[in-house]
Amino acid sequence: MRKPKISVIGAGYVGLCTAVGFASKNYNVVACDVDEEKIAKINAGIPPFHEPGLQEKLSDCLKKGNLKGVVGQTERVILETDLTFVAVGTPSKPDGSIDLKYMESAVCSIGKALKQKDTYHVTIIKSTVVPGTTQNTVKPILERESKKAVGKDFGLCMNPEFLRQGSAFQDTINADRVVIGSIDERSGNVLEDLYKGFYSTRLPTIIRTSLSTAELIKYASNSMLATKISFINTIANICEQIPGADVKVVATAMGLDKRIGPLFLDAGLGYGGSCFPKDIKALIACSKSLGYDPELLDSVEQVNKMQPLKAVMFCKDMLGDLEGKKIAILGLAFKPDTDDMREARVIPIIHQLLKEGANITAYDPVAIPVAKSIFKNQIQFADSAINCLKNADCCILVTEWPEFKKLTPEDFIKNMRQPVLIDGRRVYDPETFVRKMTFVALGLGQSSN
Ligand SMILES: NC(=O)c1ccc[n+]([C@@H]2O[C@H](COP(=O)([O-])OP(=O)(O)OC[C@H]3O[C@@H](n4cnc5c(N)ncnc54)[C@H](O)[C@@H]3O)[C@@H](O)[C@H]2O)c1
Repeated sequence: MRKPKISVIGAGYVGLCTAVGFASKNYNVVACDVDEEKIAKINAGIPPFHEPGLQEKLSDCLKKGNLKGVVGQTERVILETDLTFVAVGTPSKPDGSIDLKYMESAVCSIGKALKQKDTYHVTIIKSTVVPGTTQNTVKPILERESKKAVGKDFGLCMNPEFLRQGSAFQDTINADRVVIGSIDERSGNVLEDLYKGFYSTRLPTIIRTSLSTAELIKYASNSMLATKISFINTIANICEQIPGADVKVVATAMGLDKRIGPLFLDAGLGYGGSCFPKDIKALIACSKSLGYDPELLDSVEQVNKMQPLKAVMFCKDMLGDLEGKKIAILGLAFKPDTDDMREARVIPIIHQLLKEGANITAYDPVAIPVAKSIFKNQIQFADSAINCLKNADCCILVTEWPEFKKLTPEDFIKNMRQPVLIDGRRVYDPETFVRKMTFVALGLGQSSN
């Protein structure tokens, strides 16, 4: 049987990983984006963002001729393919609700193409959208532009994406589960068959459901993970008030309980990135608009907002006035293995330190170019972790890159003006560091410091 031809609208993290994922399994894929520079990079075999392993896979797919990137031309691309994944951005508006302008524009082009198409086509929404969006926004636009009926003349599915930046390609080809919300049986069957072919013998559990349940599953999953993080950060804050208590040990013991599990129980400076902050805000806004105030989620967000500022508070506790003090920041990306700085916890930390008059030098293995576009010349950048520490009065570890875990107390003592370290991600062994230098770690009770 002929493999369906696939188009992906929006070639960002999700779109490109989806495109490369299918192309790597010999599907014919067209990735379409409005950003010319992004598409030029993709066609040259260079992913427009840092993602481990993606460059090799992208190059392979281009060489085999399974993948091509195109700028715009959405209508032509729809006519040439059988299935279209929509993976455009759905950023937050100031009130927390999601901005659907990219989605509306992409879907409008798809609808126009469907007007001219006489073979069956399925549109699959992969972007994260609040419950009701596919039914109440996407479907009417498709029908208005195509003058055809969804569910009869063409198909519509909602298929949320669960990949994690940093392991995005692996997550795409080894998903834990596939959620298929569909407007009708036929659309869902087409997508289920696609995934059966894609995963072959390693097919994950497939959940077939309604469009809005599929939409909510994504938000509920991210809200649960964010809740675990704010929960353990709350326990960390309590630990700091209890001499001798250590959140790391608490989390390890809790995680051994099968009902709880060990993941997402790492206390630290809070969650960032393009998904959790945006998705929690969107679910709160959506829920409130429906008449239910989700107080738990408000608290999760509130804890996360305060958590990065604790690094500054620790800094002031140890150095006093920060005016003119040199602070070394290790890590800028919102998490290791990415150069993404959207909602990175380092941003509020640096803004607050600058307000207090500190001089900042930062280092990150891959995110410095992105950080330069955010902070311009307000801060300095070092070319290595060791050079970042040179003559600093205090170091704040913000992102837990593996290379930072290798630093020893001697590295800090030898290079800093005064060896003061704030471990914002609990990567260092307190026993080793406390004996040799001034060491503060999130969630570590005072008598241990
Ligand atoms: N990044 C993640 O880890 C992740 C994980 C799961 C779900 N999501 C969701 O997936 C969606 C995409 O996220 P992302 O991180 O890939 O975003 P992104 O910003 O990296 O990429 C979106 C792309 O869409 C393009 N675009 C916008 N309008 C377009 C149009 N009309 N036609 C063609 N291209 C267009 C943009 O130029 C951009 O390249 C969002 O809804 C996000 O919440 C993201």
